[in-house]
Amino acid sequence: MPNLALLGGKPVNPKGHVRWPQINQRDRDFIMRALDEGIIWGTSAPQVLAFEKEWGEYVGTKHCLSCNSGTAALHMAVAAADVKPGDEVITASLTFVASAMCALQHNAIPVFVDVDPRTFCMDVSKLEAKITKKTKAIIPVDLHGMSCDYDEINKIAHKYGIVVIADACQSHGAFYKGRKVGTLTDMSVFSLNGLKNLQAGDGGLFNTDDDYFVAKANQLRVFGEIVESPRNYNSIGMGWMYRMLELPAAYARSRLVTLDEENAVRQQNGKYLTKLLSDLPGLIPPYIPEDRTTVYHYYRIRLNPEALGLKIDKNEFRARIQNALAAEGVANQRWQTRPVQEQGLFTEKIGYGHGCPWTCKYAGSDPVVYDPEDYRVTKEILADSFCLYDGIYPPNGTELMDLYSEAFHKVWDNMEEVLAIS
Ligand SMILES: Cc1ncc(COP(=O)(O)O)c(C=O)c1O
Repeated sequence: MPNLALLGGKPVNPKGHVRWPQINQRDRDFIMRALDEGIIWGTSAPQVLAFEKEWGEYVGTKHCLSCNSGTAALHMAVAAADVKPGDEVITASLTFVASAMCALQHNAIPVFVDVDPRTFCMDVSKLEAKITKKTKAIIPVDLHGMSCDYDEINKIAHKYGIVVIADACQSHGAFYKGRKVGTLTDMSVFSLNGLKNLQAGDGGLFNTDDDYFVAKANQLRVFGEIVESPRNYNSIGMGWMYRMLELPAAYARSRLVTLDEENAVRQQNGKYLTKLLSDLPGLIPPYIPEDRTTVYHYYRIRLNPEALGLKIDKNEFRARIQNALAAEGVANQRWQTRPVQEQGLFTEKIGYGHGCPWTCKYAGSDPVVYDPEDYRVTKEILADSFCLYDGIYPPNGTELMDLYSEAFHKVWDNMEEVLAIS
């Protein structure tokens, strides 16, 4: 009788996990109240304004603007940093494409810095080498819910007078050296899409203490107009329509009530699971430096088959482990399959057409080259790792982590079978 569920054995966790979020009565009440108010959109819609106030207070910044996606919030921040065509914007090579796309949206050129093999955040030791006279902004990414090393990044940025925009799309509620994410850089942006620790369905948030940045971001958010009452209908610069809607704002307000509580469950599950998996050779759980917290947007595990004495392609090994775990009832997935620079947009460099911004007349005279040697660590991480997600989230708790641990240990104990499956 085979042992592994993949070969017909009994799965460790046949019931799987409970899906997050569980929509509750409070969510329904917030949305119904918004509907009863009878206002569903607009620059002074009450749910949107209340949400901006509450999120500004939660994070601790002077200003907060909401918008309709994290991507829009990033674009607002790039515009606020006065990025111009042909300028360069630095971000991390392991991220969601929007961290770089926001530069292209403003006809600027994304430049990438590799990530640290343990934290998955921008490798600060490689940042300064990427700065040129054309660099206008740096967008570090708080990958999987953990803040970057902002003191070090700010130090370098300030030396060159470069604006720092935190892509905190995955790190709502995390801390760095006792300070909350959202307050650590010139501007910070958050996503509210349906996967994020704080969600609206879709939506975004922009935080800053700076009066100039908020005014510029607001202008881009609403057709390039200065937002005033009565409306002047005068677009004084390029603008988009990035406003947030009332019903998503009402729902997000409700989710914000329990954000910290839910993050605490993720943290408990994540820490507990790391302890349970620590005896497995060749498994590297997430690393959390002592000076910060993670809110476990994802739980990324790296694998090192060599530590098990195995000579097998890392991609192949990872796929086998993922399949065996999934069959045991451990939901897992790959988050990102390639470094951003290897996506077609960046290999073809077509952009808006005519190769802009890479070959626009305002770009530097040296051609922009995305050299694989520059993002070697990102490639290694993407070849040997995978992520856990829903199971770590509430209402799932440590009982599920015990089952996950059992499943991992079962797969490790039956490694010969795992490797023999054709
Ligand atoms: C790191 C990062 N940046 C930016 C975004 C873009 O956010 P949105 O999907 O709300 O546009 C995401 C969302 O997936 C993200 O994970």
